[in-house]
Amino acid sequence: MRVLTTGGAGYIGSHTVLALIEAGHEPVIFDNFDNSSPEAVRRVAELAGRDIELIEGDLLDADAVDRVLSVGNFDAVIHFAGLKAVGESTAQPLRYYRTNVVGTLNLLDAMQANGVCQLVFSSSATVYGTSGASRCAEDLPLGTTNPYGTTKLQIEQILDDLAASDPSWHVAKLRYFNPVGAHASGRIGEDPRDIPNNLMPYVSQVAVGRRDHLSVYGGDYPTPDGTGVRDFIHVVDLAAGHVAALEALPEFPGARAWNLGTGEGNSVLEVVRAFERASGKSIPFEIVDRRPGDVAELVADPSRARVELHWKAERGLEDVARDSWNWQRNNPFGYENSDGDADA
Ligand code: NAD
Ligand code: UD1
Repeated sequence: MRVLTTGGAGYIGSHTVLALIEAGHEPVIFDNFDNSSPEAVRRVAELAGRDIELIEGDLLDADAVDRVLSVGNFDAVIHFAGLKAVGESTAQPLRYYRTNVVGTLNLLDAMQANGVCQLVFSSSATVYGTSGASRCAEDLPLGTTNPYGTTKLQIEQILDDLAASDPSWHVAKLRYFNPVGAHASGRIGEDPRDIPNNLMPYVSQVAVGRRDHLSVYGGDYPTPDGTGVRDFIHVVDLAAGHVAALEALPEFPGARAWNLGTGEGNSVLEVVRAFERASGKSIPFEIVDRRPGDVAELVADPSRARVELHWKAERGLEDVARDSWNWQRNNPFGYENSDGDADA
């Protein structure tokens, strides 16, 4: 399939573009490099052993998006592009609603106008934010606790309404749990621009010496070791989940949600220990107050994806820690300050 991949230069997008090529598909990247680097695309091309079509553009430019869809001869779209930092979304809600919701509307208008009706959308387990459940199946009541999460929920609702209006639409709403890890080559991975908000990139930067210690947010949760428990899914498994969803989409008219997670929970301290084993470094940490808005435990029930998409996560925490460390040590300052040689 020829697949327009918005945000394909980003963390999850870059791994998925590689997986699409490996599965025999033809991805075309559309990205404005707001939170990514052309170097990531260059490296995906190097891993794939072929050139990748790249269009630099902004989803907020509706005419540009329409032009891309009108000439591209696409069978489907995978839509990653968007803003994703929870704290920033609270400080800059309009920017988040504009980029995520208006950007998606522009994309959907252009798809509809050009007869492209198959879409895989990046949603998030954040839509289970108010459910109170620690193990989440897709039919839980949805609710959010921050503007970022609300953009994802609003987009899900727009997709439901659109699919209900016209039976030609086939839409996968993929709810990711906690994407982590990197490609085993160490050539592509997560490259946060500022101080990382999320656990795994923060731990990696402590291990490589960029930060002196980790603050563990809360040691008194009702979990086995008192720290938060999450479902950490290896990004290469997540990428395979997109290929599975894309290939299954013709069988699923309408809009349907699938969780992409492992079904296993790991605590913050288990992540720290796994990273210490993988890196041979010690990760100093200090237990501090809980982070507002955090829950004790959030783990996927991934059975719907297993049954319907024939997909399940193959990799565990040890693989995540090994591959994250391999990426971090080969690219201590990410893509921008690298000389392009992972073995240097
Ligand atoms: P990322 O920031 O690495 O990738 C997003 C990409 O979109 C970037 O390359 C960025 O430059 C591009 N982009 C942003 N605004 C754009 C615009 N207006 N026009 C064109 N391109 C634009 O993020 P990621 O971690 O790869 O996440 C991908 C998607 O998955 C996002 O929608 C995110 O909300 C969702 N998601 C991510 C996580 C996670 O933990 N990483 C979890 C759940 C859901
Ligand atoms: C976060 C987002 C969520 C998003 C998800 C995707 C928040 C509040 N939530 O989830 O909307 O869908 O990423 O990956 O940002 N932790 C520390 N110290 C740190 C960082 C994190 O102890 O420096 C702990 C957290 O308290 C939590 C766990 O590590 O228990 C995971 O945190 P994080 O990686 O930020 O992900 P989530 O909060 O689960």
